[in-house]
Amino acid sequence: MTPDDLKQLVRTIPDFPQPGILFRDITTLIGHGTGFARSIDHLAERAAACAADAIGGMEARGFIFGAAVAARLGLGFVPVRKPGKLPVPTLGIDYALEYGADRLEIDPTAISPGQRVVIIDDLIATGGTALAATALLRQAGACVDHALFAIDLPDLGGADRLRAAGVAVSTLMA
Ligand code: PRP
Ligand code: ADE
Repeated sequence: MTPDDLKQLVRTIPDFPQPGILFRDITTLIGHGTGFARSIDHLAERAAACAADAIGGMEARGFIFGAAVAARLGLGFVPVRKPGKLPVPTLGIDYALEYGADRLEIDPTAISPGQRVVIIDDLIATGGTALAATALLRQAGACVDHALFAIDLPDLGGADRLRAAGVAVSTLMA
């Protein structure tokens, strides 16, 4: 299946979670066995080309894609978590996204100095989430220079913002 085929498996729901938002729902993509597997194939191929030492994924949808890619490549997975979930002292950052604001946290001891962490998430919209994850991982000592997403919403400018922060961005579909 090509990325164009995979795009057909993503469902678009209007006015969720707020009026005016066109929500790109991956439930139908990951519910399709071949579609999910091919999505991971495509992302893993690109992650392997980045010489990743580890994969970082953002809770929750980034865990689905990021953890599968990490396991496929035999790499560790760094969970970038929503607040209050980690049982150790954390580094945290507040950020805005297309439909609100939130906070991400990591365990700084999950990162070795200079470790190249490739970020993976299901979707980039404004880039708020990915920029926050990049800042946190860099604060902990990681080298973050590549990020991969299944879906790009280019009108929201997130991929360009992330590139301006020195992160090469690759996406499977827009
Ligand atoms: C979604 C998506 C990305 C983020 C993209 O996560 O999975 O992480 O929004 O938006 P942005 O580029 O504007 O930051 P959400 O915060 O809705 O959480 P979820 O994964 O728990 O559904
Ligand atoms: N995260 C941010 N914007 C989104 C959208 N339009 N659809 C799905 N997830 C999102």
